[in-house]
Amino acid sequence: MSTPTGSEASRADRHSCYQLAVQDVVTEIDFIEETWGSLRQRPLELLREDFCGTANTSCEWIRRGAAHRAIGVDLDEEVLAWGRAQNLSQLSAAQRERISLLQQDVGLGTSEAPDVVLAMNFSYYLLMERASLRDYFRSVRENLMPDGIFFLDAYGGYEAPMVLEEKRACDGFTYVWEQAAFNPIDSRMECRIHFDFADGSRMEDAFRYHWRLWTLPELQELLREAGFRKVTVYWEGTDADTGEGDGIYRPATVGDADPGWVCYLVAEK
Ligand SMILES: C[S@@+](CC[C@H](N)C(=O)[O-])C[C@H]1O[C@@H](n2cnc3c(N)ncnc32)[C@H](O)[C@@H]1O
Repeated sequence: MSTPTGSEASRADRHSCYQLAVQDVVTEIDFIEETWGSLRQRPLELLREDFCGTANTSCEWIRRGAAHRAIGVDLDEEVLAWGRAQNLSQLSAAQRERISLLQQDVGLGTSEAPDVVLAMNFSYYLLMERASLRDYFRSVRENLMPDGIFFLDAYGGYEAPMVLEEKRACDGFTYVWEQAAFNPIDSRMECRIHFDFADGSRMEDAFRYHWRLWTLPELQELLREAGFRKVTVYWEGTDADTGEGDGIYRPATVGDADPGWVCYLVAEK
């Protein structure tokens, strides 16, 4: 048996590590299905995943039902090709017929109106001007079915604008989230993701993001300005025993002043 050469970091795949460390597509699609089911009386079929990257979430949607269809939208051909090779390839031929990936700007929309549009993992934070974010929200609203719903996540808390590094052990590596810079004058920040390995090697800057740290009031206002008739924040409950988040998100108008929170915004057309 030959011994693998090079460090663990040099042999690792950044998209695989990202999917393992950052994404939880089962929980995400659980939330979409449950929330749609509580707000709408008809089945959800066509899901558009904006900033889809490897289309991991779209694949989860496709696996869950024979009538499910998905459109993934991303600008980057490299990440879409990875998604085709590693994620879509795991689907059956019949399942693959129900998913399409578009290499285009999320603002362009799709020819068929989706039931839901998703913008997850804060990807839309890369739109840094009010006008550009509002234009994007408007284009999503126009593209949706008349009873369509736009799902976004958001993060914040008093640690969000801090320069810091957080580590979390994952299967086979350590995920490192670095908030490298924050400018309070324009709320722009730079975030980086690194992966550390047991042999001491690091995949430095596996991903880098230049973002604006949007606040929930700004996002709710912009979604309403874009024409969404109802915008609801779904806030995570607290486990009475541990004091930690319980993974259950419910409509809320008051949240806790946590150091770091993640929530969902649900915008109804
Ligand atoms: C943080 S990744 C998101 C991955 C995945 N959606 C997730 O939930 O983790 C952001 C993705 O957005 C894509 N992207 C950035 N600007 C875009 C735009 N204007 N239109 C479409 N995709 C864009 C990038 O190519 C990148 O793959």
